[in-house]
Amino acid sequence: MIERFNDGRDWFFERRFGLFVHWGLYALPGWHEQTQWRQNVARSDYVKLAERFNPVNYDPDAWLDLVESAGMEYLCLTTKHHDGFCLWDTKCTDFNVMRSPYGKDLVGMLAAACHRRGVKLCLYYSVADWHHPNYPNEGRHHELPGPEPGDEPNWPKYIEFLKAQIRELCTNYGELGGIWWDMNVPGQVDPSISAMIRELQPNAIVNDRGFDQGDYGTPERHIPEGRAFEKRTEACQSLGVHSWGYKHDEDYFSDKFMMQSLDRILAMGGNYLLNVGPKADGTIGEQETRALRRLGEWYGKVKESFAASPAPGLTSSADVLLTQLGRNVYVHLFRDPEATGVVLTNFGALPKKAMLLNTGQELEVRLDRGARMWHQPEYLRIRGLPVNELLDEVMVVKLEFEGGPV
Ligand code: GLC
Repeated sequence: MIERFNDGRDWFFERRFGLFVHWGLYALPGWHEQTQWRQNVARSDYVKLAERFNPVNYDPDAWLDLVESAGMEYLCLTTKHHDGFCLWDTKCTDFNVMRSPYGKDLVGMLAAACHRRGVKLCLYYSVADWHHPNYPNEGRHHELPGPEPGDEPNWPKYIEFLKAQIRELCTNYGELGGIWWDMNVPGQVDPSISAMIRELQPNAIVNDRGFDQGDYGTPERHIPEGRAFEKRTEACQSLGVHSWGYKHDEDYFSDKFMMQSLDRILAMGGNYLLNVGPKADGTIGEQETRALRRLGEWYGKVKESFAASPAPGLTSSADVLLTQLGRNVYVHLFRDPEATGVVLTNFGALPKKAMLLNTGQELEVRLDRGARMWHQPEYLRIRGLPVNELLDEVMVVKLEFEGGPV
């Protein structure tokens, strides 16, 4: 069983699906959020992007409309990515949105809309910084190869800056759902930073990429082994294959792939943070918009199965994941079923009813020793799956029991 916090951070267990947003100057070239590093752009050139950053079509409510149609209940925005550009009115550096032609606090606008609409807001913050003169760029993981002219590498001073920025974020934008660290220098431990967040934002969860082990793990772009998480987990993935930030020639995962991935993580008891990279004008592209709406359509139909807890012990079948809530068991067919019937081996209880959540249709269930697997103990057969009709969705079957499933 995953341990709860037993405090305000438990929102994490109620709101399981969130939108990740990677947005910053890098949306202008539209290649990758790490353009500066991966394409060796000189800092003196990169900073010029700020002179052109003017997202006149930025409308936080339009983002939140999309959050709602996807069925998501929280959002995490990159307030400062590795390039060091800050999307809020920070007093700690001039490299921020207030100095761009746009000149408005993007974080503040989003926070106001989130609070108004009851969407939890989490803030991403990169420790690695390719702009701040005190960040010691030494060519380590996600760092510039070395200091640039004028830099004064000084870790304690950088940490002072970082803490002052986190203090701003934790003070000026109302209640936060969490702080999402990224790219700390390996081995840099400092419990005072989480302590400050706790003090200022007691309901904020803190991920495991910062200065201590944090509240939860963050597997990125993959599905960990196993059938149920033992620790608090929030997986992250992007709709785009190549980049987290806006990419003009992005390739996108299929709806089916996304449903399979989302279904697996949620059925294993994790949360899911799904990313989009808005364009430089502030809008979310057509393909991402369409995909989120489509995912939401499916998610809305099967969502009750994720309020249930992982029940990996109920069957030995490897092709399904089960979740259970009281007398109901949900069968997640995250791998395309090969046939019109599936079997749950070692599952010896007969439900009174089986329903395909996707369509509402009732399915036939029987306990059997079958002809093909005649030597097995009795197992459950679920029959009549519309495998040739319902090709574009992950199916979830609800089994309702009179007494209980075991
Ligand atoms: C990777 C990417 C980084 C992105 C992060 C999101 O670490 O390198 O750019 O922000 O994933 O999890």
